Amino acid sequence: MHHPLTRNIAAAALSLLSVDSVIGTPAPLVTPAPRLEDAIAPRADACTFSGSLGYSSASVSKSSCSTIVLSSLQVPGGKTLNLEKLNDGTTVIFEGTTTFGYAEWEGSLFSVSGNSITVKGAEGSVLDGQGALYWDGKGGSGGVTKPKFFKANHLNDSTLEGITIKNAPKNSFSLNYVYNLTVKDITVDDRDGEALGKNTDAFNINSADGVTITGAKVWNQDDCVAVNSGKNIYFGSGFCSGGHGLSIGSIGGQAVNVVSNVTFADSTVQNSQQSVRIKTISDGTGTVQDITYRNIFLDNARVDPDYSDYGVIVTQSYGGDKGKPTNGVTITSFVLQNVTGTVGSEAARVYIECGVGSCSDWTWSGVSITGGTKSSSCQNVPSGGGVSC
Ligand SMILES: *[C@@H]1O[C@H](CO)[C@@H](O)[C@H](O)[C@H]1NC(C)=O
Ligand SMILES: *[C@@H]1O[C@H](CO)[C@@H](O)[C@H](O)[C@H]1NC(C)=O
Ligand SMILES: *[C@@H]1O[C@H](CO)[C@@H](O)[C@H](O)[C@H]1NC(C)=O
Ligand SMILES: *[C@@H]1O[C@H](CO)[C@@H](O)[C@H](O)[C@H]1NC(C)=O
Repeated sequence: MHHPLTRNIAAAALSLLSVDSVIGTPAPLVTPAPRLEDAIAPRADACTFSGSLGYSSASVSKSSCSTIVLSSLQVPGGKTLNLEKLNDGTTVIFEGTTTFGYAEWEGSLFSVSGNSITVKGAEGSVLDGQGALYWDGKGGSGGVTKPKFFKANHLNDSTLEGITIKNAPKNSFSLNYVYNLTVKDITVDDRDGEALGKNTDAFNINSADGVTITGAKVWNQDDCVAVNSGKNIYFGSGFCSGGHGLSIGSIGGQAVNVVSNVTFADSTVQNSQQSVRIKTISDGTGTVQDITYRNIFLDNARVDPDYSDYGVIVTQSYGGDKGKPTNGVTITSFVLQNVTGTVGSEAARVYIECGVGSCSDWTWSGVSITGGTKSSSCQNVPSGGGVSC
């Protein structure tokens, strides 16, 4: 039995769909929870969108629902599941498996923006990007065009929680222009891409102020976290496996090239190319300051020796000639505290190549890394502060 408002919303959603996509699919697309108050309330309490047409009705009806449930949606290839500009305070819940069809395009597969928004994954839910259909070992720099996955841009005072992404074609979470964002208990599982996945960064952060990521579990083939610009960013109690570690940068090649007050804490980096990394672009300019890595465990004893490069790396020649660092980006107040564990047999435990005078005021304590080798080619290592290469 349908509540009158249920029918109205469903009819409104249907009337906005193109005719051909409606034919043969009379099942209700929108199912607000029936409540008496809804008859007069401007917004329904909860709307559920499901199946193969739910993606477009969700985009159309999104501002009529205070809670949007996306239940086993099948999003067609080449389309964004668009939840931008949601009403303040909207909650979005993914249930079941959401699949995103194959198409060679830039994406994003999903996009959300607004204020005081919560996006949650229900227990057992998965967002499946079907990465294996795209992966060709070329990532973002060749082969088929691969879509980015989860765009959270212009999102303020909001929370992403309990979301599981499987098999991202390339980058998973793009967090840009976000202010006070809490990101809890996210899983990114691109283990199937071990051979051919590339540039499957889990979290890319740009122009952000106030991002707290806790309890993330990531298996991927590029940065676990890359902070490109922004401040007041915390990543804690995380697990990163198979990728390129916890990174600041690359810095120096964008409109804004300032990163400050970033902390990585209480996390494990496993089987990764490097674990702790600051990369600044050759001939770029910018500022990197107040960066802390605390209680980081390097679990790289079993990493493929060919894959493993460094434990800790600071490079100021990124994108240019390795071994020729430039000094246009300053790196100050770089703290390592209790960074322990093992690197792969062919990795350098620590590698630092700073430009002349651009690295200063570093404080390292409890840095104790085993395995691998001692680098003989560090340059301009800041003196004092317990730093050694
Ligand atoms: C989010 O906050 C920032 C900084 O205060 C502000 O510039 C921006 O307009 C806000 N975004 C929205 C969607 O309200
Ligand atoms: C972020 O949180 C701080 C501290 O609670 C608050 O002062 C600031 O206004 C918030 N910024 C935005 C854009 O909501
Ligand atoms: C640094 O960022 C954290 C959030 O990660 C915040 O709690 C702290 O107040 C910031 N420190 C300064 C000096 O702004
Ligand atoms: C050092 O970090 C490890 C995790 O990597 C943690 O288990 C240990 O308690 C930390 N030690 C101290 C003294 O905080």
